[in-house]
Amino acid sequence: MIHKDTSDIEISLLLEAIFQKYGYDFRQYSQAHIRRRLMNRMKMTGFEYISQMQSEVLNDELFASKLLQDLSITVTEMFRDPAFYKSLREKVIPILKTYPFIKIWHAGCATGEEAYSMAILLQEEGLYDRTTIYATDFNQLALNQAKEGIFSNKMIKEYSVNYQLSGGKDSFSSYYTSNYDNVIMNQSLKKNIVWANHNLVTDSVFAEVNLILCRNVLIYFDKDLQNKVQELFNNSLINGGVLCLGSKESLCYTDFQEEYIELDKYQRIYKKRY
Ligand SMILES: C[S@@+](CC[C@H](N)C(=O)[O-])C[C@H]1O[C@@H](n2cnc3c(N)ncnc32)[C@H](O)[C@@H]1O
Repeated sequence: MIHKDTSDIEISLLLEAIFQKYGYDFRQYSQAHIRRRLMNRMKMTGFEYISQMQSEVLNDELFASKLLQDLSITVTEMFRDPAFYKSLREKVIPILKTYPFIKIWHAGCATGEEAYSMAILLQEEGLYDRTTIYATDFNQLALNQAKEGIFSNKMIKEYSVNYQLSGGKDSFSSYYTSNYDNVIMNQSLKKNIVWANHNLVTDSVFAEVNLILCRNVLIYFDKDLQNKVQELFNNSLINGGVLCLGSKESLCYTDFQEEYIELDKYQRIYKKRY
């Protein structure tokens, strides 16, 4: 007889309730991440037990939407990890230049900074006009913000530094206009970005693409789920297409390791074999 810890049982029942009622499936997310986020919400609401959140989530849609936001970490940046973008420019752009039309998928794009960074890079490399960028996330609030392309002024200094370090060819300020405390990204960057709600756990392939970026998302999934999502990526990428993961993510220990060659081991850039 296996005796699970009571809080483990409560968590698994809560995740089951969220899945059955709302269709969001967190059952194979990293337990440590889920526990941390639930404990945080429990403290904020003053509940004593995780199971108290179960009846709340089933009967109060507002509480449920707060919990869904808790479970989706949307921290992101423009040109996050500049060395990654430098490598993208040097090693992946030459591959993209060989295609007449380019399709790029940003899976888990959060509030859009990653997709805008890509649009800037492609404009500078003369590729944007023949590219469609699919930027997807399951967090509709984050997607709404991404679509607007309005970001706080406070971050701009850091983003400018990231941009320069990544090998940016212009001045970062030429890509937005300032408006009080915010900046508004240029309309020309938005024109080929398709923002869409897509859940990596429950939705399927929607396009055949040349490049996939899924950075700092799989880190929240357990090994089996990472494997399942890698299957989705493998089915979405053309042969010779490129997959980019986050700095703490890799293809190691997935069934798909042999399907790719490493373009840049340190920046987690992989090319699908022909
Ligand atoms: C930390 S952000 C990463 C943003 C960006 N890729 C970056 O590296 O800066 C993780 C994003 O993954 C999204 N995410 C988590 N689980 C997801 C799922 N099952 N389907 C789609 N997006 C998911 C979250 O909503 C969040 O916006």
